[in-house]
Amino acid sequence: MLGGMNTLAKELNDQLQGTIIYDLLSDLGKRMYFPKGIVAQSSEAKQHASRYNATIGMAVSQGKAMILPAIAEQFSELSSTEAVAYAPTGGIAELRSLWKKEIGRKNPTADCTKISEPVVVSGLTNGIAQVADLFVDRGDVVVVPDMFWGNYRLIIEEKREASLAEFPFFEAGGLHIAGFRQAMIDNAVNGKIVTILNFPNNPTGYSPTVEEAHAVAKMLQGLAEEGYKILAIMDDAYFGLFYEKDTYRESVFSLLHNLHENILAVKIDGPTKEHFVWGFRLGFVTFGSKSLTTQQYEALNKKLTGAIRSSISSSSQPAQSLLLHALKRSDFEAEKARLDDSLEKRYFTLKKIVEANANSSVLKALPFNSGYFMSFEMISGSAEALRKELLMKEGIGVISIKDRYIRVAYSSVDEKDLNDMLSVLFKTAEKMR
Ligand SMILES: Cc1ncc(COP(=O)(O)O)c(C=O)c1O
Repeated sequence: MLGGMNTLAKELNDQLQGTIIYDLLSDLGKRMYFPKGIVAQSSEAKQHASRYNATIGMAVSQGKAMILPAIAEQFSELSSTEAVAYAPTGGIAELRSLWKKEIGRKNPTADCTKISEPVVVSGLTNGIAQVADLFVDRGDVVVVPDMFWGNYRLIIEEKREASLAEFPFFEAGGLHIAGFRQAMIDNAVNGKIVTILNFPNNPTGYSPTVEEAHAVAKMLQGLAEEGYKILAIMDDAYFGLFYEKDTYRESVFSLLHNLHENILAVKIDGPTKEHFVWGFRLGFVTFGSKSLTTQQYEALNKKLTGAIRSSISSSSQPAQSLLLHALKRSDFEAEKARLDDSLEKRYFTLKKIVEANANSSVLKALPFNSGYFMSFEMISGSAEALRKELLMKEGIGVISIKDRYIRVAYSSVDEKDLNDMLSVLFKTAEKMR
């Protein structure tokens, strides 16, 4: 690097030295800082420039963002500033603190006094990519189950030039925790372990039972006690869509954020799936580790906002404003419950159909209990060939994975059509055997 490390980055690193954060930061993460440039000066001016504020690269008239009527008319409930002004780099402060409260409400055993202030990113994908920039170096290994969201490959392998190591997700109908532990030990790089936990999982639709969630936490605690430094990234994209009584209904983040000094837990969540606003492109990144101070969380958040500033600059302001207004409405939870319930109904309908076909000689359902999806394993034959046949001959679209699995997104098919779709799926698979 030309000219050595920036002094602001050095200051942040000094604050973080001796913590798990510093031990896990990538080279890029170590170099990252939030500049005292336009954004910082302009937010200082927002507080103190009582006469004229000539800092912001926006068109302002009488203290408000200029707006075209063609745009304003479509945002009738938002002020022009809420609709079109730049959002702060780390997100609207009120939304961040409300989201933190929401994390506490939805995860009652988490201690929200011990976690960072959530930072707004442009969707969970972007959150994962930002965190990977800060913590994953070329040559690192990220441990994931053998059923994982394919986009991790682009982020971790192609962008960060690290690699993914897979462990067998299931054993005897539940999580293969011993396999997970072994994969982490085998893939530790200089004592550093990175893993991504995604529950409810894409593509299987599996979430741990209460017992399994605690067993995962205990296993990670054991590794931390042995001296491994662990970055545990929780991809909570489908959080809340839990359908069975014995499922652990909090994020695993609740169990990890205050567990051990050698575990840095990162919760990546957001409204894209949870609140049915996929195209809003909003997500949140929240950190938790035992014994970190507020100052250290702030230093880490400065690095994260530096990473945001240098990539997307900031996330969508109108989307944040709309979400903030929606979350504050008294009927929001009831409205959301209605949509969640409709997905739950589809789950139970699908579960019945799958159970009725449990003895199929062609397709075996993998464990599923939550989220948007379920997957079948092909007992024989090619999943890709089945996918093509279903698509071209039957007009049914499903996803094939590794030529061995078929993923069904029942989130996107009406309940009344599930029976027909599944019966064609089984019949076609049988015909092709
Ligand atoms: C497991 C998982 N994580 C993250 C995402 C991306 O979420 P977002 O739309 O908020 O970027 C998806 C979307 O398909 C997903 O399945």
